[in-house]
Amino acid sequence: INVEPITFALFGALGDLALRKLFPALYQLDRAALLHADTRLLALSREGGEPDEQMARIEQALRRYIPPHELDDAVLQRFLARLCCLRMDFRRGEDYAVLAQNVSAGLPLIAYFATPAAVYGAICEHLAGAGLAAQARVVLEKPIGHDLASSRVINDAVAQYFAESQIYRIDHYLGKETVQNLIALRFANSLFETQWNQHHISHVEITVAETVGIEGRWGYFDQAGQLRDMIQNHLLQLLCLIAMDPPSNLTADSIRDEKVKVLKALAPITPDILSQRVVRGQYSAGIAGGKPVPGYLEEENSNATSSTETFVALRADICNWRWSGVPFYLRTGKRMAQKLSQIVIHFKEPPFYIFAPEQRSLISNRLIIRLQPDEGISLQVMTKEQGLDKGMHLRSGPLQLNFSETYKSARIPDAYERLLLEVMQGNQNLFVRRDEVEYAWQWCDQLVDGWTRIGDSLKLYPAGSWGPVASIALITRDGRSWYGDF
Ligand code: BG6
Repeated sequence: INVEPITFALFGALGDLALRKLFPALYQLDRAALLHADTRLLALSREGGEPDEQMARIEQALRRYIPPHELDDAVLQRFLARLCCLRMDFRRGEDYAVLAQNVSAGLPLIAYFATPAAVYGAICEHLAGAGLAAQARVVLEKPIGHDLASSRVINDAVAQYFAESQIYRIDHYLGKETVQNLIALRFANSLFETQWNQHHISHVEITVAETVGIEGRWGYFDQAGQLRDMIQNHLLQLLCLIAMDPPSNLTADSIRDEKVKVLKALAPITPDILSQRVVRGQYSAGIAGGKPVPGYLEEENSNATSSTETFVALRADICNWRWSGVPFYLRTGKRMAQKLSQIVIHFKEPPFYIFAPEQRSLISNRLIIRLQPDEGISLQVMTKEQGLDKGMHLRSGPLQLNFSETYKSARIPDAYERLLLEVMQGNQNLFVRRDEVEYAWQWCDQLVDGWTRIGDSLKLYPAGSWGPVASIALITRDGRSWYGDF
């Protein structure tokens, strides 16, 4: 990989995302010799005391979040030597003069906004005012807005100063190794593509279950809820990668064009069918990781009357030739029984059945793509049980690829490492284009409108469970069940 020198300016450098994810990811790039010797890192924050105190906090975070066996003192010192901490008010134009002095002329500037989206416009305006726009690539964290209207305001504000080719909208799921593997799996294997349609697939499940609760983010989360926090971005992106047509090449726009076609083909979930197709849940007190945990309404800084959802399950339908009649069941929640992100493609039964009738229910091929934990791919196939006494007894077993077992030496990089490297290389493949964000909002907005219109009620589920009972009914109503619910 060819690395060029850059200036990397991180706005919101003492925030949770920066300390927990971004600095460790930059460190890992340095460790892998993927930062040029002349690359400089500017840590920009509004508070946090004097620069040496800020530096100490960053170093502390690196020591905390990098696994001990990956923490190399020489690399850490090299990394800290690249770092310059500046205190500035992101809304004050005058403060950008100091920033400009620290940006190397003629080198690309990467400006990463790990701040609330409400400040994006001001940062862009002042970067331009300081004469830095031409050399900059701007990286925007989600959530971009709260709905279609507010996301347009933010995107317009950024677009006033930057061309779409300079804008990198992050959805960190796109940086996950197994998510990128979806492209390889689908389009480098002719085996799957011929089966990838309504003739052969009966339905698709996408589960993103988390065991964590709100983790002190009540203020943000209560305004957002699980639909805006997870479905609008991560789950719809996964759905697009599964459902899109083959792009004609790997360029950013070819892939994004195909994803947009899927988003446009998503059938609205109208109020008359909404209660059959969508379940909103909120966790109550329960047991997570073997310990009692409070319910959502008892979390720190909560208000006791919130009806924000921490769980969503829904059935989405894609209206096109490839997917007509193939439901996509999506489910995601906080404080669930297990951290598990997986996609399950269920194939149809064979057209004619020749085995013993009582074994019929066994028959089903499934492709399971495990995003986390234990990244891997497993194809469930039917075989015959071994043994003289078994006759033609069938059993279902996996053809399995577990990445960490098969490729033992390869470390699986964190999503942010991949994404930061891609921005540094000026490659937009793994970032979200404006129209994708907007079509995704449009689809979510109609859901929220429907909820409001029918006064959809929130279903409680105990922390540590697989979600409200109604989410099981949602899929059993169609004669199916969630895979891997034990
Ligand atoms: C973030 C959400 O985008 O993704 C969080 O804001 C969520 O609420 C997180 O916990 C999940 O990411 P991951 O990589 O841990 O699955």
